[in-house]
Amino acid sequence: MQIGLLSFSHLPQVMDIENEAYPWPWTEGMFADSIRSGHLCYLASDGDRALGYIVAYVAAGECHILNVCVDPAEQGNGLGRKLLRYALGVALDLGANEAFLEVRVSNDAAINLYEATGFEVVGVRPRYYPADDGREDALVYRLELSTINR
Ligand SMILES: CC(C)(COP(=O)(O)OP(=O)(O)OC[C@H]1O[C@@H](n2cnc3c(N)ncnc32)[C@H](O)[C@@H]1OP(=O)(O)O)[C@@H](O)C(=O)NCCC(=O)NCCS
Repeated sequence: MQIGLLSFSHLPQVMDIENEAYPWPWTEGMFADSIRSGHLCYLASDGDRALGYIVAYVAAGECHILNVCVDPAEQGNGLGRKLLRYALGVALDLGANEAFLEVRVSNDAAINLYEATGFEVVGVRPRYYPADDGREDALVYRLELSTINR
């Protein structure tokens, strides 16, 4: 497994994973916009096969994690943790001192991953996400980047 830059040529594989992993997936245009904007876009792969990816950006000393996702067939093998740590390490190198993200209140796997990494809840965004029965709240998490072990 290696982690490298996510580029336009990876988007067909990324979209396959995205559509399988999320009930409300990003569009290909959202990934393309992130690449064009110079966001931190990284792909975990095994040879030519995409396994997972992370998208984030750094601005004004803050890192914002926008998307982290692992192929459902590869989940539970430590890849999400590796992608998250990789992006946070890059953000630290770029001068960020804190990181933020939002997560659905029902997303136990992601919440466990973030809390195991040291993220702490700092707020709630009511009805932030679409949901089958209307809308779902987001938890807002923050991490002090100086606390991460690389
Ligand atoms: C969230 C996600 C990225 C985690 O990736 P992963 O590679 O499966 O996770 P890892 O194997 O690195 O596990 C890291 C930690 O996450 C937590 N975790 C992972 N899968 C879990 C599950 N099914 N249930 C509960 N906790 C889980 C655990 O704390 C785990 O640590 P442990 O193995 O020491 O117990 C992955 O489940 C995913 O892609 N989900 C769909 C997309 C998504 O919801 N992304 C987050 C949006 S905010």
